[in-house]
Amino acid sequence: MPDKLQPVRGMRDLLPGDQAHHLHVVDTARRVAALYGFAEWSTPILEDTRVFSRSLGETSDVVAKEMYTFADRDGDSLTLRPEGTAAVCRALVNNGLTQTLPQKVFYAGPMFRHERPQAGRYRQFHQIGAELMGPSEPLADAELIAMARAILDALGLRDGITLELNTLGDTESRAAWTAALVEHFGRHRDSLSEDSRARLDRNPLRILDSKAPRDRSLVAEAPSLDRFLTDSARRHWDDLRARLAAFGVPFTERPAIVRGLDYYGHTVFEFTTDRLGAQGTVLAGGRYDGLVAEMGGPSVPSVGFAAGVERLAMLSAAPPAPAAPVVVVPMAEAAQDAAIAALQALRAAGIRAETAYRGNVRRRMEGANRLSAPAAVLIGEDELARNTVQLKDLRSGEQRELPLADLVRAFGPR
Ligand code: HAM
Repeated sequence: MPDKLQPVRGMRDLLPGDQAHHLHVVDTARRVAALYGFAEWSTPILEDTRVFSRSLGETSDVVAKEMYTFADRDGDSLTLRPEGTAAVCRALVNNGLTQTLPQKVFYAGPMFRHERPQAGRYRQFHQIGAELMGPSEPLADAELIAMARAILDALGLRDGITLELNTLGDTESRAAWTAALVEHFGRHRDSLSEDSRARLDRNPLRILDSKAPRDRSLVAEAPSLDRFLTDSARRHWDDLRARLAAFGVPFTERPAIVRGLDYYGHTVFEFTTDRLGAQGTVLAGGRYDGLVAEMGGPSVPSVGFAAGVERLAMLSAAPPAPAAPVVVVPMAEAAQDAAIAALQALRAAGIRAETAYRGNVRRRMEGANRLSAPAAVLIGEDELARNTVQLKDLRSGEQRELPLADLVRAFGPR
């Protein structure tokens, strides 16, 4: 016997229960995004590798270690998208949409990262995301964050998820701060964890994100960006917090948020929970004013977020199961076509209806009970001759005969 083939490590099949839950998460997000004026885009799952390598930062973990990159049959280097933002920027430029701003984009779909799989972390996962492209005003950041909060609220996640907010300042603030960080961590290079020592040369900001115990006190003593903010960066930060208050969105300031992707400036934020173990970030994003220009377009200041659908599904209640079907059972071979007519009439009226494909009447009735059918439609030779059906209430056991033409009406107005 050939071996049973397995799905790729870190990738899962979504069977009806999980799939329905995922769809519920995506539909809920889509509905809220529409209320805020966001329109849905779909970009390809495969992109030219440079779409990501240019934008996410060569030294980011995603680009350095996690991308599914391969040469296709023409020798072009392609990558399975690890996230949606870079692709949306590429699409904005390619479709000439930088002339018609703002663009408010919603998207949903699979993403791929070669990470170590664990609960809440997969190699194929799904995101819902939104990008608000054009406005540089803090009002845009605040409205986008308010929409993220509204999506979580609509999923019943008002409690237990906290918004953590930070600013990375503008380029000038960040350059001064980075220099101060390099000096601080450089003075203690030997005490740093191995990972952080490597980051010191490549991407010192990421040291602040270190989970290594031996980095903890050095990170706590590190100079904060606050001292280095330029006046305009400070204005953006102050305005954002005032606007968020006007939107009624509570937040906690957390200077340690630096995010794993390199395209951010000014606002960064994460919605986190302690209900998911180590993978506590549910939704995250920030402002990225330079990314569209890196895709060969003009400068288009933008802000966005994405959330893991798996994580939202783990936290939220599953949607109610669909109503059980009416089951149609022919009691004689000759009644099969009449049974088909009854099935199709029910479905055309929007009533879920199923039939069994084989077996005697008893077996077919057992099938109806397995489906928890509330009612069965029985058609035997007598009914066929009279052009009627027997409608049996499977809960009370009551049965009555009615004309086939009246069957749909028996299920009441819909
Ligand atoms: P990210 O923080 O890399 O940001 O991912 C956003 C969310 O996707 C995470 O908070 C998490 O819920 C989910 N996620 C990420 N990796 C995995 C994984 N391996 N398994 C399960 N869930 C995962 C971005 O992707 C940015 N594009 C967000 C953004 C949009 N920034 C601006 N616009």
